[in-house]
Amino acid sequence: MDKQHTVMTWWKKAIGYIIYPSAFKDSNGDGIGDLQGIISKLDYLKDLGVDLLWICPFFKSPMDDNGYDVSDYQKVDPRFGDNDDFDLLIKEAHVRGIRIIIDFVLNHTSDEHPWFIEAKNNPNSPKREYYLMLPPKYVDGNMMPPNNWKGFFSTSTWSYDEQSNLYYMHIFSKKMPDVNWSNPDLRNEYYALARYYLDKGVDGFRLDALAHLARDLSFSDSRVALDENGLAFDMNRYSNRPELFDYMREFKDRVFAHYDCVTIGEVGGGISPEQSLKLSGYENGSISMVFNFDTAWENGAYDSVTKKDEELVTNVVKLKTNFDRWYQACDGKAWMPLYWDNHDHPRVLSQYGSVKYRKESAKMLITTLLFMYGTPFIYYGDEIGMSNVDYTDIDDFNDVSARNYLAENKDKYDLATLLRFLRRTSRLNARTPMQWSNEKYAGFSTVTPSQKVNGNYLEVNVEDQQKDEDSILNYYKKAIALRKQEDIAKSVIFGKFSFVDIANNDVICYVHEGSRPLLLIANFRDHETRFPIKFKIKRTLLHNYGEELFEKGVVALRPFECYLFEVDC
Ligand code: GLC
Ligand code: CA
Repeated sequence: MDKQHTVMTWWKKAIGYIIYPSAFKDSNGDGIGDLQGIISKLDYLKDLGVDLLWICPFFKSPMDDNGYDVSDYQKVDPRFGDNDDFDLLIKEAHVRGIRIIIDFVLNHTSDEHPWFIEAKNNPNSPKREYYLMLPPKYVDGNMMPPNNWKGFFSTSTWSYDEQSNLYYMHIFSKKMPDVNWSNPDLRNEYYALARYYLDKGVDGFRLDALAHLARDLSFSDSRVALDENGLAFDMNRYSNRPELFDYMREFKDRVFAHYDCVTIGEVGGGISPEQSLKLSGYENGSISMVFNFDTAWENGAYDSVTKKDEELVTNVVKLKTNFDRWYQACDGKAWMPLYWDNHDHPRVLSQYGSVKYRKESAKMLITTLLFMYGTPFIYYGDEIGMSNVDYTDIDDFNDVSARNYLAENKDKYDLATLLRFLRRTSRLNARTPMQWSNEKYAGFSTVTPSQKVNGNYLEVNVEDQQKDEDSILNYYKKAIALRKQEDIAKSVIFGKFSFVDIANNDVICYVHEGSRPLLLIANFRDHETRFPIKFKIKRTLLHNYGEELFEKGVVALRPFECYLFEVDC
């Protein structure tokens, strides 16, 4: 066991909260959330108990991918405010004991970034080496992209640029050219930008799309099965390749090691926990932790276009197995973040919980998450039980990934099928305005918001829940306060963690040993089930129903019922 395992760092104790800035709070009545809006809600966040904000990108951008296409890393986009607002946000957050990490987009820039404009215009500029630009291939006299690779947004990874007569690579939208991390000058640019942010006072980064920085520079055709357009979706060509680990080690030596910052890399689905230790391991790693996707789609929604709603069922065993696999690999060797959903996923309440049992399932889900091994990250709105959209118009799914998906599939499925699919999978489910009150536009803005409010805001909103002692919001506060208690935090951070009856199909049960041993029992079903308790219960710490129903060592669990007990181990 590495000695760093026994060190209580601030980020191990922290309770994270993810903000999608355009949807959080609009302060100036233009329908778009902004930095002043976040500042105005810092007291709310402090009261909730969170103390580490991850704020999705708010830098200058043409907004092809809602700010993940940055055209100036050092300038706040005017729709979110200005650089003074950014400084004020950091200051006001710090005054309240809240730290801030920003989303740092390292895999690509916007095609409107000055580096890319120069790269296209000037064949002799060193900026051309900042991107991956290759000459066309000619087959039977026809001009073709350099290879058959397909990206994440349903297109080829190559787009042709007439000016330079070259193709440039992009694994996301064509307005997001990938940068070339094998070029040391490019790397230096990012190190300087990281220092710029850290010197400003940010407390670290969520490193966007980190897994993809190193590519197969042979650029040879992939041999995986081709889609109907002759494209190969072969993530291995641009994910978790060996050079990535070298780049990140250099990043650490040059920047991260010189600051008290936290760094969380997005590594997605393609990495094994063992491989991830090369990034986040205490011993030789370069960043603090990695976000994996392995617990995000365990209800079968991901590829579910032809499935009926009834066919989507949470695979509770798989969920436990995946949490366990990561825990086993990381225990004593690395720290982990924990999350149910983020801005790229549907709402967890609609995935693993239930709209019908909104209150019970929302409370159950947060209890399950908070006391596992890792730093929990709450996605904005989950604390009031926000759920997937009720949009009935396909045009409301106005997001580059949904648009490209529709373009690719509009002739394959009827509109109702596509609508059903987007309502359960689209990222827009998690990008609707925060529901602050039951006033018009959910109290998010005074004008029609740029992203349509979820119609359920009359029943699901902060203001009403603040007044209701039994609300999801008040339960969150209680649960977070408990997780932050020194002795409980110690058990969660240093205690041995294990699932009980991992093969049970309906219930998640785990024990967290330590000075205050904890036992969690959570029913993930909308029907009743029974579960034996083999531990000596000292007291109930959290429970999401009124009465406690036990009988001779067996607990009778109602839909989505959960208990957190303190036990004798
Ligand atoms: C990450 C972000 C996602 C974005 C993509 C490209 O996966 O989380 O929202 O579209 O990177 O930057
Ligand atoms: Ca605004």
